[in-house]
Amino acid sequence: MKIFGIIGNPVEHSLSPVMHNSAFKYLNIDAVYFKFKVDLRRLKDAILGADSLGFGGLNVTVPFKEEAIKYTIPDTLAEEIGAINTIKFGRTVEGFNTDAVGAVMALKEVTDIKDSNVLILGAGGAARAVAYALSSQSKKVFIANRTFKKGFDLAKKVGGEPIKLDEIPNIIKSVDIVINTTTVGLNEDRSLLYHKDLHKDMVVFDLVYSPVKTRLLREAEIAGAKTLNGIKMLLYQGAASFEVWTGIKAPLDLMEEAIYHEIS
Ligand code: ATR
Repeated sequence: MKIFGIIGNPVEHSLSPVMHNSAFKYLNIDAVYFKFKVDLRRLKDAILGADSLGFGGLNVTVPFKEEAIKYTIPDTLAEEIGAINTIKFGRTVEGFNTDAVGAVMALKEVTDIKDSNVLILGAGGAARAVAYALSSQSKKVFIANRTFKKGFDLAKKVGGEPIKLDEIPNIIKSVDIVINTTTVGLNEDRSLLYHKDLHKDMVVFDLVYSPVKTRLLREAEIAGAKTLNGIKMLLYQGAASFEVWTGIKAPLDLMEEAIYHEIS
């Protein structure tokens, strides 16, 4: 039996085990997927240990996406992004990023990215993937991060425009898509933006999916904006990880059903 898992901190909220275990079972793949909360100082041990123990692969989540790349041989996309969310163990430890494709697929279901101005909240591992993918597909990308320097560096890298969090009101009228990649709202009733900061002609997308309807999405509804929760992103990035590990097309409908069954 092959062991897979997700490493992060916090990780208790993760729905990845339910999603992947349902797919393994459905396809009769002899594998199991667990969640592992990893101490912030033990990331390297965790990855090398999983490799030594013969694990099949790992997903990587908050706050390890950028650091974890150091312990892998990343593919071209992951290297360009500078962050990974998927590791495959074999003769070597390979790193991949499926967040970029996951975010784009989720967004394309609800809006046209091509002519949009996008505001990305955050500049961490998930933000890097989203910013990388959207900067080449949208009209303009603004990046607003609590630590301005980090947002500035990311914006410079992808050809976007860095702004301070308190400058958001100055540009919000021109924004068509807001994407929260920060952990604000994860298992808490907080948001970086409230309804007065948003408007009805936009899509508000939260990568946080615990709770499914975050405070940001509730505020977006009050503003009359279209909302997109993090479940589709979870699904599409997960399906891409599954395909990296198994080489088999992921059973998307079944995985989505498993997620919603677990939530309910
Ligand atoms: P991930 O790998 O999932 O992207 P991360 O790399 O830890 O996670 O990134 C977390 C993001 O959430 C960062 O952009 C962080 O901002 P800083 O760069 O200033 O740390 C942002 N973040 C976390 N807590 C925040 C808070 N209370 N207010 C604003 N931003 C916050």
